[in-house]
Amino acid sequence: MRIVDLRSDTKTQPTPEMRRAMATAEVGDDMAGEDPTVNRLEAMAAEMLGKEAAVFVTSGTQGNLIGILSQCQRGEEVIGGDRSHIIRAEGAGASVLGGVVMSALPNDERGLYDAGLLETAIHDDALGYPRTRLVALENTHNSMGGAAISPDEMEPIIEAARSRGLAVHIDGARLFNAAVALETPASELVKDADTVTFCLSKGLGCPVGSLLCGSADAIAEARRWRKWLGSAMRQSGIVAAAGIVALESMIDRLADDHVNARRLADGLGSIDGVSVGAAVQTNLVFIQVDRPDGAEIARKLDERGIRVGARAGGVWRLVTHNDVSSDDVDYALEVIESTLAE
Ligand SMILES: Cc1ncc(COP(=O)(O)O)c(C=O)c1O
Repeated sequence: MRIVDLRSDTKTQPTPEMRRAMATAEVGDDMAGEDPTVNRLEAMAAEMLGKEAAVFVTSGTQGNLIGILSQCQRGEEVIGGDRSHIIRAEGAGASVLGGVVMSALPNDERGLYDAGLLETAIHDDALGYPRTRLVALENTHNSMGGAAISPDEMEPIIEAARSRGLAVHIDGARLFNAAVALETPASELVKDADTVTFCLSKGLGCPVGSLLCGSADAIAEARRWRKWLGSAMRQSGIVAAAGIVALESMIDRLADDHVNARRLADGLGSIDGVSVGAAVQTNLVFIQVDRPDGAEIARKLDERGIRVGARAGGVWRLVTHNDVSSDDVDYALEVIESTLAE
């Protein structure tokens, strides 16, 4: 059966070139800093993001977690958007493991929040409050339709944070999607951030891994946290090798995913009972399926090989990636339309 998996860009299979690179990777003991492939990947990541250093971590969640824990002490506060992945989808790990308070401001439709509100939410040293230490942003913004956020849009928030001496962390799980959509170097998008996470395992197609980038001091502290979390790895060059392939050859092609996402959104928007959410800027398409039997339709689609991310309230997320061609998009549209018409 023909399968078109639109649930997430995390479903991507490693490319043949990645598998070859993994099979032949030169490796060593990464925890001792002796894995040449990991060292190369980390140096590439730091350079591409314009930061002094980078550390290879197991996941985006771990990159964000270590980014927070290495900059916040127990009882200190992180402020982020209420729809951000860090606040709603990472199990409050920084609270569980580091006693960090996670506070949320309402996200707007671009995945930002009001800088004025941020200013009033920041607690300095008043004894009764957690001391605010770090401000978090997300780019692209997953739950706000994959919005690619420009430096100008981020500026008021970063300015407010800076004026109060706070650190800034960017969850750039899909940072390169933002860079490609905005035709802006990734380094420009994160120039004012102290730490940034980006994922290899999403649109870039790798099986495993993310990078946390920042100053040499921040990343030295992050390495300590990675060890405390039991995630300092050994011959991890095996997986880092796929990351090098991704950084060399999988970034520009993200533009194809964005074209495919718009094609999908246009097609879905013309189907009765379906409305498309936010303007599609990158590879995420959110739709509203106004049907009481929406969950049943999603199940039928799954049986027919079309996998969609059906969520509560008739909201579906569909994601384009390296394993979804424009032909697959057309085929998925045909099956979705005919299934809805039954
Ligand atoms: C915006 C964002 N940040 C972080 C993550 C976490 O990444 P991981 O699944 O590798 O932990 C995700 C995963 O979907 C994400 O969408």
